[in-house]
Amino acid sequence: MSWVWTDVFSHPLWAVSTVILGLLLRSQQRGSWDTRACLVQLKGKTAIVTGANTGIGKFIALDFARRGARVIMACRSEARGSAAMQEIRKRSGNTNVHLRLVDTSSLASVRAFVEGILREEKELHILVNNAGASGLPGDITSDGLEVSFATNHVGPFLLTSLLLDLLKRSAPARIVNVSSMNHWRGVVDFSHFKGENLAYTMDSVYNHTKLHNIICTNELARRLQGTGVTANSLHPGVVMTEVMRHYNFLVRFLFNLIGIFFFKSSEEGAVSTIYCAVAEEMEGITGKYIDSDCSLVLPAHLARDPALAVKDFEFCERLTSKL
Ligand SMILES: NC(=O)c1ccc[n+]([C@@H]2O[C@H](COP(=O)([O-])OP(=O)(O)OC[C@H]3O[C@@H](n4cnc5c(N)ncnc54)[C@H](OP(=O)(O)O)[C@@H]3O)[C@@H](O)[C@H]2O)c1
Repeated sequence: MSWVWTDVFSHPLWAVSTVILGLLLRSQQRGSWDTRACLVQLKGKTAIVTGANTGIGKFIALDFARRGARVIMACRSEARGSAAMQEIRKRSGNTNVHLRLVDTSSLASVRAFVEGILREEKELHILVNNAGASGLPGDITSDGLEVSFATNHVGPFLLTSLLLDLLKRSAPARIVNVSSMNHWRGVVDFSHFKGENLAYTMDSVYNHTKLHNIICTNELARRLQGTGVTANSLHPGVVMTEVMRHYNFLVRFLFNLIGIFFFKSSEEGAVSTIYCAVAEEMEGITGKYIDSDCSLVLPAHLARDPALAVKDFEFCERLTSKL
């Protein structure tokens, strides 16, 4: 029987060495910053985390709770949010963890959420805009916005804007926006916000929204200079969460299969956000983009254009003030 080189793939050693290599590569993926080694305490501090009922957001909220913060979990589902809140209270031993409802795709819901916060909270020291969705089907919200843009960018933009005075009064305070390395594949076209000129291929719409996250964070940071409030954005890594829930079975299957070896867990995915929110070395750092290993890196060139940032920010201001 003659041997052909492709036989190597059916040899048991191939499977074993692939698994070992995968595990080795995965072990190299851990961030350089260790949340447990960071002794910063958040007693007396209030933090809001959106999308805190699952995935990355749940571990961000858990970390803040363990540090003693008053944690507001801003979630859209009462049932899922309340289950996660109970779990976080139990695991952290902190009962000062609360659930407030918000659907970031609805500007009315964002306004109602902020009204509640302004009524109940005297201070706000950390705001993490983590809620987000990828692969949503093309749809227009009741505000006339494309649903991914509304969920990932316009809703969080309004939420942040309405909380700015409270954050300034509570300074030093930090705004942390969870973006993605996918922003590199995004483009800026203001007609996208209303659902025009969009191609719904894989994650293309999501990528645009994540680019706007960084652009507007940078302009916000510029506007906040001298207030004691910082604003940074980050990439959490490629993380095994429910983020692929809107994709078809095959895509989800492949994501999960590859993810077992190469992707981060939700807990690991939370690290770069926690770093931006609590690390002493991030004090006073603003308008930056942080990578999943907590290093400071440059975002895509569109996210480094200050003129475009002003234009984008003003566009979002006009959009949210009209609606
Ligand atoms: N996972 C990754 O590889 C990856 C990579 C780069 C960036 N990110 C970013 O990381 C963030 C967290 O994602 P994840 O991976 O943890 O995904 P996830 O497990 O799907 O969690 C997303 C969270 O956002 C919430 N959410 C979605 N739409 C919302 C809305 N309209 N209003 C309020 N909350 C909403 C979800 O609430 P429900 O459970 O109620 O739907 C959930 O709590 C997102 O901004 C995502 O873009 C993730």
